[in-house]
Order: sequence, then structure tokens, then C-alpha cells
Amino acid sequence: MKILVTGADGFLGAAVTRALLARGDAAVAFDTRISALHDAPAAQLTQVVGDITDMAALARVMLEHRPDAVFHAAAIVGVLSSLASPVHIVRVNVEGSLNVFEAMRLAGVRRCVHVSSEEAYGVFHADPIPEAHPLDPVLPYGICKATVEQLGRTYRDLHGLEVINLRTSWVYGSDLPRARVPRILLEAALAGQALHVPSGADAAIDHTFIDDFVSGALAALDHRTHRFDAYNIASGQATTVAQMIAIVKELVPGARLSVGPGPYRHGDTVESVRKGALDLSRARKELGWTPKYDMRAGLERYLRALKR
Ligand SMILES: NC(=O)c1ccc[n+]([C@@H]2O[C@H](COP(=O)([O-])OP(=O)(O)OC[C@H]3O[C@@H](n4cnc5c(N)ncnc54)[C@H](O)[C@@H]3O)[C@@H](O)[C@H]2O)c1
Repeated sequence: MKILVTGADGFLGAAVTRALLARGDAAVAFDTRISALHDAPAAQLTQVVGDITDMAALARVMLEHRPDAVFHAAAIVGVLSSLASPVHIVRVNVEGSLNVFEAMRLAGVRRCVHVSSEEAYGVFHADPIPEAHPLDPVLPYGICKATVEQLGRTYRDLHGLEVINLRTSWVYGSDLPRARVPRILLEAALAGQALHVPSGADAAIDHTFIDDFVSGALAALDHRTHRFDAYNIASGQATTVAQMIAIVKELVPGARLSVGPGPYRHGDTVESVRKGALDLSRARKELGWTPKYDMRAGLERYLRALKR
């Protein structure tokens, strides 16, 4: 298969690109920046510096390479970024995704696996939360995700595209680019520094280990016939920051970590909505996918990578 990966230089896009190359697929890596993340023969990998808000550039790449599918991970990521710059995030995440769909339509590319987010659900009213839960996002980041999902359905109905949405949640592991839990906990523990997270002891959030996300992404790309267009891809378990700290303290004896009560605050400022575990039944049944890492196993692997 040949897959065009948008956001191929980012945390998830790079991991998926590496996995595609490792199993012998070809990749067209599309991103506004290209670092030396991918090392593969030119016949297997094409790296393109481009912007998804540039429709003409995207269409050129799509028409030139005519991939079998698109893995769409390019976005401005995170609740805080979306609040700092709501116009920009709509431009990149919504208009950019529309450009991806349009370029696919022009080039006759049918399947797109789009990385959506648990933020698309808004407040969790079930635990675990199934895909049938209403999408009622409250912040621009989640609103963009839900909008792109819905636009994908429009392109399915009008133009026969197949846009598959992976609702994933707080992915972590080596190369996590953002300074948030669990990265800040492990880094402080390894550096022997004390760290107090001001709040979040009671915030139960599903955290996804990067390898599990990648195996879910490949399963969605490979699946022959999708009966559904959205899958929860997470760990299926919600862990509080207090529980995370307890595990880190076992893994790094002497770690001086603590957390204040209450909900998690993004960047210590913006309160997270109530979350919980994601119900993985659909992905298990339809894709034959199952996560391999609970929080302890994921933290162990992440810690080993950070030590290296
Ligand atoms: N990491 C998580 O925990 C998580 C959770 C849920 C959903 N997601 C979604 O997964 C996707 C990837 O997230 P990530 O964690 O890898 O983020 P990331 O910031 O590491 O990667 C995003 C990539 O997109 C690229 N990009 C940004 N704007 C672009 C543009 N206009 N044109 C082309 N490329 C552009 C960036 O250069 C970057 O390489 C995003 O859609 C994000 O919303 C991530």
C-alpha cells in the first residue's frame, strides 16, 4: 500500500509513518516541516514540505502520488492552542481537512483515516463512553474535530469518500511533544526534582500508549470493509493523576511528586471537562484490535525510553 500521511513529522504521524515503512508499505510524508525522522529508500518514502491550508499544493501531491489511502494527522493540537488562536485552529484543522477531502476527491482517493479526539464528545455522560455517545464538544479544539467528522460524512454521501475517525485520548510515550502528564512526572522523577501538579488528583482520563495507537491506526487503514466510521482507540481505562503518580513512585523510588485535588487543568489554567474511559468494544469486535498497554506497562516502557 501507499499511504499519504499528513502531519508525518508529528508525534502520531511520525510513529504511524515509521510503522508503515517498517512493514514495507510506501509513504508520502506531508508536513510543514520535515526533520530527519524517517530513513527509507526513495522508492519507499517521499517527503513533501507543504501546508494543508494550501489546496493547490495538496491537490498536486495527491494527483502525483495517487495514494491508496490518506492518514490525516496534521493539525494544530490541544485545548490551549485552540483557545489561544481559535481562528488559526479552524483554518488549519477544519479548512485544512476540507482541502484534504477535496484533493482526495479530485485524485480519486477513497479512504482517509482521520485522527479525531475524545474532546469531540465534550463532557462524558457515560463510563466507559461508547462511540454512539452524542458529540457535544465545548471548546474550539473538540468542535473542530467533531466538525471534520461531520464534513467527512458529507463527503461520503456526496462524493463516495470513506472517512474513518479514530477517537483517541491523551496519547503518551517516547517523543510526546507536549509538557503534560505523564511526561512531566517521569522527567521530574528521573531528574530527582520535586514536582507538584496543582490540581487533577481526581481527574480520571483515558491515556493511550503510542504503540497501541499505532496498531489501531494500522488496523483501521487495513480493514477491508468498515461498517462504522468512528472508533475509540484508547486504553479502555481511566487513570487519575494521583494513580499515575503512585505508579511512577513505584517505578522510580524516591520520586517527589504530588498533586492537588480537583479536576485537571490544561496548562494549570483551563479546567478539563469530565472525562473517563473510552469503550473499546467496537474496535475490538470490528477491527480485531486490542490495546496491549495499561498505565503501568505504558509508563514502564516510556520510562525505559526516557532513560535511553
Ligand atoms: N497526541 C494526542 O494525545 C492526541 C489525542 C487525540 C487526538 N490527537 C490528534 O492527532 C493528530 C496528531 O497529533 P500529534 O500529537 O501527533 O500532534 P503534533 O503536533 O506532534 O503533530 C501535528 C503535525 O501536524 C503538522 N502540521 C500542523 N499544521 C500543519 C499544516 N497546516 N499543514 C501541514 N502539517 C501541519 C505539524 O508540523 C506536526 O508535525 C492531531 O489531529 C491531533 O489533534 C492527538
